Amino acid sequence: MKIKSAEIIISAVSPKQYPQDNLQEFALVGRSNVGKSSTINTLLNRKSLARVSQSPGKTRTINFYLINKEFYLVDLPGYGYAKVSKDDRAAWGKIIETYLTSRPNLKEVILLVDVRHEPTADDVLMYDWIKHFGFGRIVIATKLDKINRSQYQKHFKMIREKLKMAPEDQLLPISSLKKLGMEAIWDKMDDVMQQERVTGVNASTKEESTINEGK
Ligand code: GTP
Ligand code: MG
Repeated sequence: MKIKSAEIIISAVSPKQYPQDNLQEFALVGRSNVGKSSTINTLLNRKSLARVSQSPGKTRTINFYLINKEFYLVDLPGYGYAKVSKDDRAAWGKIIETYLTSRPNLKEVILLVDVRHEPTADDVLMYDWIKHFGFGRIVIATKLDKINRSQYQKHFKMIREKLKMAPEDQLLPISSLKKLGMEAIWDKMDDVMQQERVTGVNASTKEESTINEGK
């Protein structure tokens, strides 16, 4: 994907603030601190378009990034962060749920999980939900630089099994730090942009990127 332009259009909390132009949207969801905002920056080759933080809970709104004036990447607040107050957590949960359930132009919901850890109960719930609505063809495993190459396959297997991913669902390992795996994400999003959304159907036969094969 050639990035000609990338700009933030709005940080929204309610549906009336969402962009009105009906362009396709790709949303990134996952636990707080998993690396959603970092992934957006790395995909776009921008240092700090999306705000990143050492401490979880950085993204608190739904941020719409318009790419090439053609489609949106959507950065959502993370879930599962214990230090956020109960009220705040409920409010963010509502913001995320409202967006995910009320957006006709939402083309794909991409789940991000940390490659180091077994997906949590929240991740499993989220992925089940994503599948239920006919999304979920792409899962990203973040922070690949944090594990040894010899551990890759074991961790990919752990994630696939815990999330009960179908063989045709794509697990794309990446490192935002090392800028690895971005092309595979763009390729997959390109595929999805061309396809109709049909539960369980995935025309792509692309393997889990070259990283997988230790190249
Ligand atoms: P919330 O906004 O709280 O939901 O978090 P987020 O999912 O947007 O995570 P964010 O991108 O803010 O990253 C959280 C932390 O992980 C930051 O300290 C990042 O620098 C770090 N991080 C993100 N991606 C990578 C990666 O590929 N490798 C390493 N080593 N660290 C990463
Ligand atoms: Mg964030």
